[in-house]
Amino acid sequence: MKKTVIKATGRYLPPRLVTNQDLSQWMDTSDEWILQRTGIEKRYWIPESGGVGVSDLGLEASKIAMDRTGWSPQDIDLIIFATLSPDLFFPGSGCLLADKLGLKSTPALDIRQQCTGFLYGLTTADAYIRSSLAKRILLVGAEVHSTGLDVSTKGRDVAVIFGDGAAAVCVERMETNTDSGVLASALHADGSLSESLMTYAPASRDNPRIDEAMLREGKHYPTMDGKSIFKHAVRRLPEVAREVLEKAGLPLSAVDLFIPHQANLRINQAFAKTLDLPESKVYNNIQQYGNTTAASIPLALDEAIEKGRVGPGSTVMFLGLGAGVTWGAVLYRFAT
Ligand code: ACO
Repeated sequence: MKKTVIKATGRYLPPRLVTNQDLSQWMDTSDEWILQRTGIEKRYWIPESGGVGVSDLGLEASKIAMDRTGWSPQDIDLIIFATLSPDLFFPGSGCLLADKLGLKSTPALDIRQQCTGFLYGLTTADAYIRSSLAKRILLVGAEVHSTGLDVSTKGRDVAVIFGDGAAAVCVERMETNTDSGVLASALHADGSLSESLMTYAPASRDNPRIDEAMLREGKHYPTMDGKSIFKHAVRRLPEVAREVLEKAGLPLSAVDLFIPHQANLRINQAFAKTLDLPESKVYNNIQQYGNTTAASIPLALDEAIEKGRVGPGSTVMFLGLGAGVTWGAVLYRFAT
């Protein structure tokens, strides 16, 4: 049977460390507020001067993952690039990454599913692999949030949360009769909640797509109804965790480690409490990186592998909820 396995992972964070104290110099906030409400201690942003896009961060993460797998760029059948902060309005960052890898005709697919970009990406990779459309897929999640944040007090509820970063995963087809690789996926979206977390402009339904009035109003900055998103996450994450387990025919106890999207430490703690899980079973690293959106789950996976929290035979659940609103979970077992 064809199974979709993760061969190796890699992560890359830009070097500019931004602490909560740094943020409190630019806006009315405090280390105490940020820590208490979100768990975040620090995050990494690209240089203030800009000039670094998600395809650049993605390239660094991809080089590490490919090096660990022993792949050269020519081995890749498909690039899947998940981001909400593409280098350009178009073309997609997957095309830009392909170019940076020296590829001239390899297909590249962008996924615009925000915090669930990795879940949608991995599920898409699984579908390509199981239907024999591809054998080796480079799946990247990357974000450059920092250039799109309002770092004044007006934007503080959103600006303190987000970090830049990238992670890449080399995904490959394996012929096996064992229960390993991607075991089950559950993906959802509810567009009626789209306005609870969005960046309005540039908007193709407006002519022009962006103008000075929109810039003055800050329509190019993300806006979020944090409380509503929080409530949906706390309800949907346990629900989708149970759904994906049911699809795989496995009990909750079969999962060795839950690797949730890193949106807010309190969301993940509430998830653990609802499912009566010890906190040690839920991986968190938002403290170090903030919310890196499409990069957050693979970044956490890369760390969890490095720390020996997961390895051959481990069963993990990736899950998350974010803008869209989209939510989902993927159950995965490492080959032995
Ligand atoms: N520093 C200091 N005070 C602040 C800040 C800040 N950075 N931000 C907001 N405040 C103030 C507010 O103005 C408010 O003041 P008031 O009581 O005088 O009106 C007070 O703090 C409380 O604000 P709330 O918004 O009620 O704070 P809350 O406890 O809800 O925390 C947060 C806000 C952290 C944003 C939380 O709602 C949250 O994490 N929501 C979910 C985010 C999420 O999961 N997003 C999805 C993923 S992201 C993606 O998909 C792209």
